[in-house]
Amino acid sequence: MNELLLDLNEQQRAAVEYIDGPMVVFAGAGTGKTRVITYRIVYLLNLGVDPYNILAVTFTNKAAQEMKDRLVKLFPHKAENVWVTTFHSLCAKILYTEAKNFGLERNFVIYDENDSIKLIKECMKEVSVEPLNFSAYDIYELICRAKDNLIDPESYKINTMVSHQYYREIVAEIYSKYQKKLLENNALDFGDLIMKTVEFFKNEQFADIKNKYAQRFKYIHVDEYQDVNYSQVVLLKILSSVHHNVCVVGDDDQTIYSWRGSNMNYLLNFKKEFSTKDIEVKEFKITQNYRSKKTILDISNILISHNKHRVKKVLFSNIEGEFKNDVKIKQCEDEYDEAEFVAKEILKLQQIEKFYNSTVAVLYRTNAQSRVFEEVFSEYKIPYKIVGSVAFYDRKEIKDIIAYLRVVVNPQDTVSLKRIINVPPRGIGETTILYLETLAKENKTSLWEQIVKIDDTELSLKVKNSVWKFLSLYDLLKKYKDTMYPSEFIKFLIEKTNYIKMIEENNN
Ligand SMILES: Nc1ncnc2c1ncn2[C@@H]1O[C@H](COP(=O)(O)OP(=O)(O)OP(=O)(O)O)[C@@H](O)[C@H]1O
Ligand SMILES: [Mg+2]
Repeated sequence: MNELLLDLNEQQRAAVEYIDGPMVVFAGAGTGKTRVITYRIVYLLNLGVDPYNILAVTFTNKAAQEMKDRLVKLFPHKAENVWVTTFHSLCAKILYTEAKNFGLERNFVIYDENDSIKLIKECMKEVSVEPLNFSAYDIYELICRAKDNLIDPESYKINTMVSHQYYREIVAEIYSKYQKKLLENNALDFGDLIMKTVEFFKNEQFADIKNKYAQRFKYIHVDEYQDVNYSQVVLLKILSSVHHNVCVVGDDDQTIYSWRGSNMNYLLNFKKEFSTKDIEVKEFKITQNYRSKKTILDISNILISHNKHRVKKVLFSNIEGEFKNDVKIKQCEDEYDEAEFVAKEILKLQQIEKFYNSTVAVLYRTNAQSRVFEEVFSEYKIPYKIVGSVAFYDRKEIKDIIAYLRVVVNPQDTVSLKRIINVPPRGIGETTILYLETLAKENKTSLWEQIVKIDDTELSLKVKNSVWKFLSLYDLLKKYKDTMYPSEFIKFLIEKTNYIKMIEENNN
């Protein structure tokens, strides 16, 4: 146990050792905020706390995985059972586990941004908005913000009645249609995961289930608390309502703008929100930075001191700078001048012995700004790599395979069904889909029901034949889905759908 605490500085140790009651750690970048959470959990495990009673929440799956890995290294076996998860995965887990109790279908699917936008586009057609005036993405964002603030379609509509904005009225109508369609597709979007969980937990009817979770999580941790939104704060309040043991860490200087409905005030107001009449939130600060040199920190301290709403703290570092001129400020004429300046700096660096291009990073605010750098770097023959443009799960092939998996589990998922019904091409074209959708609407059924009843339609024998083939593919996949490991099944699926063949042909 003592050995563990030796890895921490005094400020960090104080935060780790405080375990009774709600607490908040204000700290700058690279000061060991994540380390404090990780070590606090190990400290609790060392004290004999059951991993089942510990929860840690992060903002990305990657951060969750990293924290879990660190925990398992520090405390093998036991740490495996600690829930380290994002808010969304936490709620998805709760909803899947309690689906039957909450009256949800157990096989619901989760729509990502692209799926949601497709569905919103369909709703937009139905309320006949000019697509030029309203982008589906803008509407999606508004709906997301509404969900972040726990505003359901009904409440949204009521709000618009007060505000009398035409734009809002349209959004209200689309929001309500969109929720209906999600239900028909047996799908939840990201925002729903948290909103629905909170809705269920707030419902007296499910008080027992809520209490089960509030009893369970004796120690709750949240990393990057400056990024929380209202729905997440409400969820935390519910989950901590029995033990009141929430430990959050955050950097009030890191939210340059409001990130996705988050609001730094939740961090600054944590004390007010989470103190109870018996116990006040304890506040900690950690200020030693382990990532940057002194010179860099001094300059960022000067910049940050201009922020208006913040908890005062001055970061320091014991890492001495190697160069006098670690930081330069240069004003350029325009974007080309800027890119040329950067290119020439890199060429200078290349003169240094054992220099690697991969040790240089160029940051910019928006993706569009990369273009000029790319042009100029090509000109100067500086090799470069653009990082993070198309994320893995946004790649077409990955999305197609996931759509297949979803359809196999839940054929009512029309968005996924439409995505893959003719991928690879199998003679079920857009006209056929449109025809079947119209029939579905007339008969008040779903696209899937209509596909199953393809024999009753007036489609040509050729088209019917293609649909029969698709249905037998579906039957085959459905038959094997529960008998194979997921990885095995995906290989099987890729083979049976001729997906690889399609990619090979496209490449030729
Ligand atoms: N007491 C310490 N002794 C040595 N190294 C430390 C100590 N505390 C933190 N570090 C190191 O400093 C780095 C930053 O730590 P950590 O990621 O926990 O900081 P953070 O505040 O969460 O950073 P971010 O602002 O990026 O979220 C890590 O490499 C970590 O190992
Ligand atoms: Mg961190």
